[in-house]
Amino acid sequence: MIRSVASIVGSRPFRDGPGGQLTSTNPAHLEDVVAEALLGDASTFVEACRIARAAQLSWARTPPPVRGLAVQQAGRLVEENKEALARLITQEIGKPIVESRGEVQEVVDTCSFVTGEGRRLYGQTVPSEMPDKQLFTFRVPVGVAAIVTAGNFPVAVPSWYLVPAILCGNAVVWKPAEYTPAVAEAFSQLFLHCGLPPGVFNMVLADGAATFEGLERALDEGLVDKVGFTGSTEVGRRIGELCGRHVQSPCLELGGKNPLVVMPDADLDLAAEGAVFSGFATAGQRCTSLGTVFVHESIHGDLLSRFAAVVERAPIGDPMQEVLYGPMMNQRFCDRFLGRLDLVRPHHKLFGSTATGQISAAHPREGFVGDPEAGLYCHPTIVDGIEMEDDLYRVETFGPIVGVGSFGTFDEMIELVNGHGYGLSSAIYTRDPVNAFRFRERVSAGMVSVNNSTAGAEAHLPFGGNGRSGNGSRQSGIWVLDQFTKWQAMNWDYGGTLQRAQIDTAGLPADPSFHLPES
Ligand code: UN1
Repeated sequence: MIRSVASIVGSRPFRDGPGGQLTSTNPAHLEDVVAEALLGDASTFVEACRIARAAQLSWARTPPPVRGLAVQQAGRLVEENKEALARLITQEIGKPIVESRGEVQEVVDTCSFVTGEGRRLYGQTVPSEMPDKQLFTFRVPVGVAAIVTAGNFPVAVPSWYLVPAILCGNAVVWKPAEYTPAVAEAFSQLFLHCGLPPGVFNMVLADGAATFEGLERALDEGLVDKVGFTGSTEVGRRIGELCGRHVQSPCLELGGKNPLVVMPDADLDLAAEGAVFSGFATAGQRCTSLGTVFVHESIHGDLLSRFAAVVERAPIGDPMQEVLYGPMMNQRFCDRFLGRLDLVRPHHKLFGSTATGQISAAHPREGFVGDPEAGLYCHPTIVDGIEMEDDLYRVETFGPIVGVGSFGTFDEMIELVNGHGYGLSSAIYTRDPVNAFRFRERVSAGMVSVNNSTAGAEAHLPFGGNGRSGNGSRQSGIWVLDQFTKWQAMNWDYGGTLQRAQIDTAGLPADPSFHLPES
């Protein structure tokens, strides 16, 4: 069945398609059309923001436990439809079905966590320096949140923004990746059946240029109060500049060049297994995917041979089967990844497969599951000999390629893990807690794993990065609440006379000249 999908504004499909039409195909079987999408344009985006603005005020006045009910019902709907949604994700972006199920579960987990916030959303009572006076803090919704997300996690990452934003009393305009229109539409339908009033949840299908123009206009018209963006550092920088002009700080979740360190005392098989999942899950198309393994020079060869052996044997292919990874998400991601292979230099040594680049009859992969020429499949590549001067040391590759480098001292290793300027995720394999804590203290990444992979964060810890990976904003758990609420401070003086802070505050006489007698 070919779906015909369109933006959803104010609960209704917006079928005008002023931004043209886009065909979404299955990257594992390029001849299968998944959906025909009618795209909106900049005006569609502005209109969606206007509708969201109109709906937001009464949503904000709905008691938070009732808003939590909508989130709870959305979570249940997603759970009920888990298999259908997971299959659609695999069909549209080629993510292995096991990972797609995990991704849908992440939405359910996010809804479960956030539902409880409806009955908390705590403010504080704070003591005053005056008698007969009390201080309070309240969380206030931000207003309209415009959320722009990538397609590699087409439901989990959007849920990290949309679910808490709605719970906190905001209305949302979501712009999913244009190459996942079928998943975006299905996900939106689930949220439109969870009891939300019309206009609180809107979804606009549009290309990047139209979205940027729409966002610019909506900000100019005062229709957007918060922007959330997951995607490339380059686009994140432009969004940050735009928001800065409106005195807003966006929630930015950008790229990564995530390091995995292997200390001489590590369990090498465990480290190799961790590197395989970190580097090749989702075909390396995660912001948390492993960039470079940094191995202590004394165990370099040993770790490399174990890592290469697992990758060389791993099944790759049809994402509906049990495979390490499936195809690249679409032609654009495939082409960009193939371009990254040009960054390999003569001093590098390659491992991991029988060839590099696209898997084909001429460049086969042993043990391939299915027909490689039906889709966009690429060989896994391990590049040994990474040095700080290499492009591969600092360029995010977003595909099935992992670098391997060496270090001697702990200080050298710290320079390597931070030197590229990204700071999203990181991992260290060691049995020594001193190594683990010293690494945590000195690595610039927002997330640190010990004896675990760089990818696969749990849904209720703060997710986010620093430097080129983001502006320090955090998603998930209780931390995301600061993105979608503003703190309001209130003081209430019931003393009946004017009490001036700092001026009328009581002092306590002390004797500063007092000293204990010498003994
Ligand atoms: C992303 O690639 O943008 O931690 C997010 C992970 C996933 C999320 C990745 N839960 O790898």
